[in-house]
Amino acid sequence: MKFFIDTANLDQIKEAKDLGILDGVTTNPSLMAKEGISGTDNILNHYRAICEIVDGDVSAEVISTDFAGMVEEGMRLADLAPNIVVKVPMIKDGIKAINYFTEHSIPTNCTLVFSSGQAILAAKAGATYLSPFVGRVDDINWDGMALIREIAEIYAIQGFDTQILAASIRNSKHIVDAAKAGADVVTCPLSAILGLLKHPLTDLGLEQFLADHAKANK
Ligand code: E4P
Repeated sequence: MKFFIDTANLDQIKEAKDLGILDGVTTNPSLMAKEGISGTDNILNHYRAICEIVDGDVSAEVISTDFAGMVEEGMRLADLAPNIVVKVPMIKDGIKAINYFTEHSIPTNCTLVFSSGQAILAAKAGATYLSPFVGRVDDINWDGMALIREIAEIYAIQGFDTQILAASIRNSKHIVDAAKAGADVVTCPLSAILGLLKHPLTDLGLEQFLADHAKANK
């Protein structure tokens, strides 16, 4: 399973990269706004800066919601760096745009996915990645991880190449559950990645080892 970080924060991207486990980055307009990045030039420059840090895939989302606008914006984003993946919303024109980008060998990430039917459409259009939003499904008291499991089953039966990118991950348990459910990629906040490190027995065990070593080497 690939690990992406879900942020536009350059320090957090560097920290995850330094761990040596980072395969890519996903952003969205809200995450860019959170970092105070606004205006076309600043946004494009920020994507360039992310791509300079990370060799793996970097998802950059289009703002347009019509086919022509998405294509124009997506082509501009794809020109920024070879590792840009054009992130396109799951709407009718989005599916048309994914199909267009697929025909032009431009990788895509179909975002805002909440059902298996949407997952089938995106795969038919040739999406490179599919982003079902686990946390937001949980937020309405449905089962986000069941959605990942169902899509994984359908893709396996049908032999679709589209990679399932579990998104809207909120905590470390979500990461483990996404791995079990068959996600190809998980995109998560840095806190959820670092949370995987934590176990009280690890802390206690290390404390004991260091104390025993200190005693024996007085
Ligand atoms: C991923 O690509 C999405 O942008 C992101 O995971 C959404 O997460 P949220 O539901 O925490 O905003």
